[in-house]
Amino acid sequence: MLKNINPTTTKSWKELIKHFSEIKSLHLNQLFKQNVNRKKDFSLSLEQLQFDYSKNRVTAKSINLLINLANEIGLKETINSLFNGEKINTTEDRAVLHTALRDFKNNEIKINNQEIFPEVDNARKKVKAFTEEVISGNWKGHTGKPITDIVNIGIGGSDLGPQMVVEALDFYSNHLQVHFISNIDGDAVHQVLKKLNPETTLFIVVSKTFTTVETLTNASTCKNWLLQQAPKTKIEKHFIAVSTNTQAVKGFGINPTNIFPMWNWIGGRFSMWSSVGISIALALGYENFEQFLKGANTADVHFKQTSFDKNIPIMMALLSIWYTNFFGVTTEAILPYAESLNKLVAYLQQLFMESNGKSVDRNRENVTYNTGNIIFGSTGTNAQHSFMQHIHQGTHLIPVDFIGFKESLYGDTKHHRILMANFKAQSQALQEGKTKEAVHLDMKFNGNTNHINDLLAYKIFDGNRVSNSLLFDKITPYNLGMLIALYEHKVFVQGIIWNINSFDQFGVELGKEMAKKQ
Ligand code: F6P
Repeated sequence: MLKNINPTTTKSWKELIKHFSEIKSLHLNQLFKQNVNRKKDFSLSLEQLQFDYSKNRVTAKSINLLINLANEIGLKETINSLFNGEKINTTEDRAVLHTALRDFKNNEIKINNQEIFPEVDNARKKVKAFTEEVISGNWKGHTGKPITDIVNIGIGGSDLGPQMVVEALDFYSNHLQVHFISNIDGDAVHQVLKKLNPETTLFIVVSKTFTTVETLTNASTCKNWLLQQAPKTKIEKHFIAVSTNTQAVKGFGINPTNIFPMWNWIGGRFSMWSSVGISIALALGYENFEQFLKGANTADVHFKQTSFDKNIPIMMALLSIWYTNFFGVTTEAILPYAESLNKLVAYLQQLFMESNGKSVDRNRENVTYNTGNIIFGSTGTNAQHSFMQHIHQGTHLIPVDFIGFKESLYGDTKHHRILMANFKAQSQALQEGKTKEAVHLDMKFNGNTNHINDLLAYKIFDGNRVSNSLLFDKITPYNLGMLIALYEHKVFVQGIIWNINSFDQFGVELGKEMAKKQ
């Protein structure tokens, strides 16, 4: 069972409050001056990933106190509970085992006395066999032609992850064109359908519950579109499903052999590692999908086995707690410097905000402290030309995660050098700022002396704005899997410390009920 501790009642929390008042006005520039090895001392690594958290308003003492908090809360035991399949999603009485989906060793985890590894393994084999059939052209549509287009119909966790990964890893993709339909907006559905040939299109209906109105309505529209051409008996060539609700899938008319499993011990927003990721396997080939799982597994092993002071997701979570609960920060920005990671932030918004946007603790009481963070972001350098002004000079402190890659995929070194120069410059500018004296000197140097008095104040940057940098060698299925799993564990640690259940989502129900009554 998870411990149930209000974090504000711990000794460490009180010490952190005291420590905060001591260091709140320290400038990052002072910290870097005091310790010339700060970058090295405040960096961690995991295989190719370098995680630099030196540009955070922390000292070694802050980190120690935050780690004390994690210990006092009993984080180590809860990590074991997660991996062992205990029912830590208490409000739904479910285990939370997305980590088992990317574990390739027979780990003997049992749920209700039944080992889950054989089921996970069978599901992977089924995905592998099916994707090979489709990619090779052996799987034929109703007129005998191979499949050219895949349409994933799902929403939330049944859409955002696969869509993000398919786009992020397009470099590794094969000849299949993969499309996504999620919104109930019919215009969006018809915009996809108009590009498709019913003879060569395969629809994947992805819904854990198979009760989600958007997905079922969109799936019916697609089925009717297909039936205008194909005989009813042949829809099995064009429709497969991923769901826990086999009865409802059969009722929709999908052949039971075309149903891929899902389990109640996988939350929707943690599900793309299961058969829910079948569109990823189709787009990239099964081997790449497996690499994606293996990268995530590397992050899992790191999270489970590494001491807290060297543990990347724990450090990410503790820093976030530091800003949220002591600096009063509410918002965090995530900026991948790779256009292909365009959908990463939308995916992470569900992961963070559906998980930790809660205000009742594990003791059924209203929390008296902030939980959850508002996540936003966009790709660099696009973000620099839209909201970065606010992060540099606005009144809010907004911690940033910069995500970058040393190498480009297509080898255009000129572009990549400029992209990465920006990646580095942004975090440096946020940290260092620009003093009055430096602005003055610049304006003088540029012959702008007439306007110095008018403009000086506007051109000063206070700096002391905080960021992490996550630098990988390059975008690969493995590295992307690792990155996502690190964020999943950050979310988990935060939820544990905030004493909330990160795995239910009752907050989305009320609006759904009201929509039905309109
Ligand atoms: O409405 C929220 C939600 O339940 C998400 O948590 C989930 O990912 C999404 O809806 C889709 O649910 P399903 O896969 O059951 O259609």
